[in-house]
Parts: sequence; structure tokens; C-alpha cells
Amino acid sequence: MIPMRPRRLRRTPAMRRLVREVAVRPSQLVLPVFVAEDEGDISSMPGVRRHTVDGIRRVAEDVARAGLGGIMLFGVPDPADKDDEGTQAWAEDGILQRGIAAAVDAVGDDTVVMADTCLDEFTSHGHCGFLVDGEVDNDATLPAYVSMALAQARAGAHVVAPSGMMDGQVEAIRAGLDGDGFTDVAILAYAAKYASSFYGPFREAVDSTLQGDRRTYQQDPANRREGLREAELDLAEGADMVMVKPAGYYLDVLADVAAISDVPVAAYQVSGEYAMIEAAAQRGWIDRERAIEESVTAIVRAGADIVLTYWGLEMASWLK
Ligand code: PBG
Repeated sequence: MIPMRPRRLRRTPAMRRLVREVAVRPSQLVLPVFVAEDEGDISSMPGVRRHTVDGIRRVAEDVARAGLGGIMLFGVPDPADKDDEGTQAWAEDGILQRGIAAAVDAVGDDTVVMADTCLDEFTSHGHCGFLVDGEVDNDATLPAYVSMALAQARAGAHVVAPSGMMDGQVEAIRAGLDGDGFTDVAILAYAAKYASSFYGPFREAVDSTLQGDRRTYQQDPANRREGLREAELDLAEGADMVMVKPAGYYLDVLADVAAISDVPVAAYQVSGEYAMIEAAAQRGWIDRERAIEESVTAIVRAGADIVLTYWGLEMASWLK
């Protein structure tokens, strides 16, 4: 037998470029951003800031100019504005609605403006739904998600992204949007969302007041098959895009979902994935840029069409 020599195709940069299977495109990256009454740093996410409503305009312009796929907005209300039901989540003048309106006003249709549709930043207990006898009540929560999605659509959001992992949330939101004439607003469903420790820095970013944990609604990290089931349900309910979250530690789930999905598949490289690379790089323990590029490339290789990453703008500047 003639000896096989795969190294032939790795010999020069030109050869490696020729045979590279995937490349990350700026247009598939989505930048998550935090909108708050006051701007500020997030100590566990060096390089990521909270922006005021005015600041969001500039970020949205940067995102459009860089050719990113879009921007995903998260609202950070003042602590005094939180209540048991999270009513600021659907208030017309709630922080998130003002952020969406500012972004849309700044960039129009030049980039895709998305909004996180979940109550946790707005509830005093920090859960993603209404508490009934100390438990997050699925069906009592759905109308609030519909109200929130409608408020986001009225503010101009192009995409709403339900992330609360309530059963039936996609179907309820689709019906609510269509009933109000928002047939063009798309739903990016956080289909397979795991109860992950890697959301830690995000909870600092949004001043989370979570009591307990989210294990009765977010998925058990041990369950691969269940990720597929969640995605299938969201597809059946009418999701326009489905997401797997976190990304890097769930590439098996991502590959499973990508294999069956007939709509675009997104993956969310979450705050902890960001913080770990930044922290190790600060200590000089890894090469920061290579680690960032490798981590996002791996997510695309596993099957993501769209990647939410806090490095979106920076990566786009390298890829230019
Ligand atoms: C829920 C939501 C969370 C994240 C995105 N949407 C927090 C949670 O479920 O606890 C985490 C994102 C990240 O860690 O970067 N609104």
C-alpha cells in the first residue's frame, strides 16, 4: 500500500487555506449587548460594558458598519424597577424597549436587531417566570412572554429570542405576534438551553438577584438526547431559528440539532466561555487571539450557522 501522507496538505499557509473546511464570516456573528440606565464595566467580563440607551446607538452603528449579522439586546433595569412579575419587561418605556428603539432608529434594516425575551432580568427573585407556591409556573408565565415579545416588536425588534425555557413559549409568542399583525417578526428560539455554571459573569452583568437555581426549567447538562427533543419541539411550534446554549461545551448537542434542523441554527458562546479565555490570556497562559478564533471556529465547524459572541466586533475587525 502507498503510504498516506495527510501532511502534504498542511505544508504551506496557501495549501492550508485551500483545504480549510470552514471559515467564520462576520455576517454570521451576533453581538450580545447590555442596555442599562447607567453605563459601566462588568468586572468578570473585561472588555464588555453596559451601555446607556444613547450608547446603544453607537454600538448598533458599529455592528452595522462591521458587517456583523446582528445585535442581541439584554435589558438591565434599575434594581428599584424590579418586581415579582417583572412588569418592566413589557412596559412600553422599559429599558429594553428603549434600547431596541434606539438601535432600530440608528441602523434601521442595516443590521438585524434582536432582543432577549425573558423575565429574569426584570423579576425581583431573578427567575424566568412567575412564582406560584415557590415554583416557576409554566402556563402562568406564557402570557407575560407574549406581552414582552409584543412590546419588543412594537419597539421595532426584527427578532425576538425567548430564552426562558417554558414549554410552549414559541407557539404562544408566534400566535401573539401574528394576532397583533407582527407576522414579519422572527423568533430565534433558545431551543436547547442548559442549566450552566457558565452564565455566572452574565448574572453579574445584569445584576441578577436569582434565588435558588434554574434546574426545573433549564436542561440538565448530562442530557444530549433531550437537547434534540427541545429543538424538535421548537421547530414544530414555528421557530424561525433555533439555538443551542452554551456553545463550546455542547458541541455534540449543536451537531445533533444542526443535523435535523431545516431552519438556521445558532449557538451562544456565553459569558463564562468569554471570561475563561480572557482570564487565562490575562495571565499569559494562552494566546488570546488564537483561543478566541479557535473557540468560534469550533462552534461553526460543529454546525452553527450563527454564533452569538461577545467578541463579535473584534473578530470582525480581524476577518476584514
Ligand atoms: C436569560 C439569559 C441568560 C443568558 C442569556 N439569556 C441567563 C440565564 O439563563 O441565567 C446568559 C448569557 C451569558 O451567560 O452570556 N435571560
